[in-house]
Amino acid sequence: MDLKLNNKYALVCGSTAGIGKATAIALASEGANVTLVARNEAKLKQVVSELPNSKNHRYIVADFSNPGELQSKVSEFINEHHGFHILVNNTGGPAGGPVFSAKLEEFENAFTQHLKCNHVLAQTIVPFMKEARYGRIINIISTSVKQPLDGLGVSNTIRGAVASWSKTLANELGQYGITVNNVLPGATDTDRLAEIIKNKSAKTGHSEEESANAMKSGVPAKRFAKPEELAYAVTFLASECASYINGVNLPVDGGRTKSL
Ligand SMILES: NC(=O)c1ccc[n+]([C@@H]2O[C@H](COP(=O)([O-])OP(=O)(O)OC[C@H]3O[C@@H](n4cnc5c(N)ncnc54)[C@H](OP(=O)(O)O)[C@@H]3O)[C@@H](O)[C@H]2O)c1
Repeated sequence: MDLKLNNKYALVCGSTAGIGKATAIALASEGANVTLVARNEAKLKQVVSELPNSKNHRYIVADFSNPGELQSKVSEFINEHHGFHILVNNTGGPAGGPVFSAKLEEFENAFTQHLKCNHVLAQTIVPFMKEARYGRIINIISTSVKQPLDGLGVSNTIRGAVASWSKTLANELGQYGITVNNVLPGATDTDRLAEIIKNKSAKTGHSEEESANAMKSGVPAKRFAKPEELAYAVTFLASECASYINGVNLPVDGGRTKSL
């Protein structure tokens, strides 16, 4: 299958670690020119140097806690360099905890980081996609869109909003050759998962290995995902081959989600 990603421009957010980094590598391996976004410049430089054909790739230092600044940095980049055919919306996950005790600012911060930032990025990038008659917006959310996860109250709440925003956008943009889809990771072996396991162990008194094994036992595959397994799904959705897939939630979770 020829994914036809050669010379496509991709903006991959949250791409110095985990699922975002794996996605940047997978897209670059298929010939896309990748621009990374994250907060830590040293890590951004390092990841650019690790990508195949590293000279073709760039980075933007930005913090998803500030949508206005993110938008101006991306606009500036587009004015100086080029627009993007592919936008991968991804950032760090909200802190865990029960929803009942969550503070208002936790909801506000997560809404800003996950929904407002996705929104300003789409608004900034879609004009180029419309002109190119080619656009792929892929949002990394969570399986909690389908089935809330225990102990991730704020995350469960905000993920639903992002999924609804995304579906609405898919309805509006499909006519321009632009698709908007969500990839829903199950438990994936990244820093984020290590943090979740550490917190579970601290709460239950079980070792981290016991906590990890308990999580794996709930997955039909009986293991965690590798970040690359998420990245391959994102890369396919970013390609021309996925041109008639629009507005879907794709769990990549080893079968963990119980709903249809
Ligand atoms: N791993 C899982 O098991 C799992 C399961 C379900 C859903 N998810 C969701 O999938 C997404 C990615 O998860 P992951 O496991 O790949 O996370 P990760 O390993 O923690 O990586 C997060 C990435 O986002 C960047 N980032 C974090 N906060 C940021 C901010 N305020 N502004 C800009 N960039 C920021 C980080 O770089 P800097 O620190 O340099 O900014 C890093 O590159 C998250 O929303 C997560 O909740 C993950």
